[in-house]
Order: sequence, then C-alpha cells, then structure tokens
Amino acid sequence: MAEVPFVLQPADFRPPLRLDEIFPVPGPCELEIGCGKGLYLEQAVRLEPGKNFLGVERAEKYFRHAVRRFWDDPPPNLRLVQTDAFDLLSRWLPAGSVCAVHVYFPDPWPKVRHAKRRLFQPQLYRLAHRVLRPEGILRIGSDVEPYFGTAVREIAQSGLFERTDWPDDAPDRLATNYAVKYAEQGRRLHYAKFRRAAADGLQG
Ligand SMILES: C[S@@+](CC[C@H](N)C(=O)[O-])C[C@H]1O[C@@H](n2cnc3c(N)ncnc32)[C@H](O)[C@@H]1O
Repeated sequence: MAEVPFVLQPADFRPPLRLDEIFPVPGPCELEIGCGKGLYLEQAVRLEPGKNFLGVERAEKYFRHAVRRFWDDPPPNLRLVQTDAFDLLSRWLPAGSVCAVHVYFPDPWPKVRHAKRRLFQPQLYRLAHRVLRPEGILRIGSDVEPYFGTAVREIAQSGLFERTDWPDDAPDRLATNYAVKYAEQGRRLHYAKFRRAAADGLQG
C-alpha cells in the first residue's frame, strides 16, 4: 500500500501525528475506528466537506477494500491508516485532537478468552475521551444487544461521557457496510451518541 497519497504510512511519521500536516486543508477531524470497507466514510466526506476524516482499520482485507473504494477519486478530506486502533489512540493522536469518534458494528467476541479483542471496552472509552476535544462526540452502533447494552452502561458509568439524543432519522445516521447487511437480515440495529464530559477522573 506504499505511495497512495490518502493512505498514511505509520513508518513515515513519528508520534504524535500532526493532523494539520496530513490533511491539505486544516479543519475539525472525525475518526472512524474499524472503518472496514469504508462505506460510512464515503458518505461522510461528501456530506461534510469542511471536515477531515481519518479511518483506521486493522485487517488487510477490509483495508484494501476501503482503499479501492476511494482509489479513482480520493476525497481531499480523507486519510486511511492500517493499524491497531488502540495504538493510534494511545500513541499517535494528540490529546483533544478530534471532534468525533465513530465505532460501528465491531465484532462482539462473546467468549471471555477473546474479550481483549473487543473494541467496546473501558480502555477504548478512556482513549476516546483522551483524543476528543472538549464536548467532542462518541458514536457507537451494534446489532448485538448485550454487547451494545454493556457498552452503553460502561460508557455512562465511566463518568467520561454523557449520552445525548440521536434519533434514527437524524441526517448524520449514515449507513455502514455491516449496517446494510444486518438491516437486510432483519436484525435490529442499536445506536448511541455521547458527548465528552469534562471529567478527568478515570474510572472503570
Ligand atoms: C464487523 S467489522 C465492521 C466494519 C464497519 N464499521 C461496518 O460497520 O461496516 C469490524 C471491523 O473492525 C476492525 N477492527 C477490530 N478491531 C480493531 C482494532 N483494534 N483496530 C482497528 N480495526 C479493528 C475489524 O478488522 C473489522 O473490519
């Protein structure tokens, strides 16, 4: 994936990542974690051309899909990086550097021995709080009710975020590849939106 202008090569940078150096036009930046094949980002970059969007995806197969999606007509406000989201959040992104974090339809990894692989976990909420600017937004979605319910409870209990309304017909409720697939299967999709709280006392 070398030499694709909209793909960040971690080897070319030293942390912290300067967002004003990776996008041609500075602006508020939103981060999608586990962006998969990139359908969400494709809509978001066009809906909000005044914002920048960074998508992080660990799996080679899905990352390549996303890159192919934008290959012919790369939006100037998009950058993709293939790496582990926890590393990106903890080492690369400066504190307070993004205005929104999105995490949609992560695998639930229901077995206890796989719990470390889950994206919805307290460490993610702490790191999202770190990289979000004051009053920044965290949005999550899942088709797995117990996984989603636990995430909502843990985020609320962390004291780091306050849940806010996000009606199903809101214009910023954009489809993802998995949202489309699961909706076609008749599964119920769950979404929640949180505003970053000023709290610095980390719990959980
Ligand atoms: C089920 S897919 C959902 C993809 C997309 N969000 C959607 O809704 O279509 C979950 C994605 O999260 C990615 N993922 C899981 N853990 C990750 C991590 N630690 N860092 C980056 N990506 C991760 C997986 O590789 C996978 O592509």
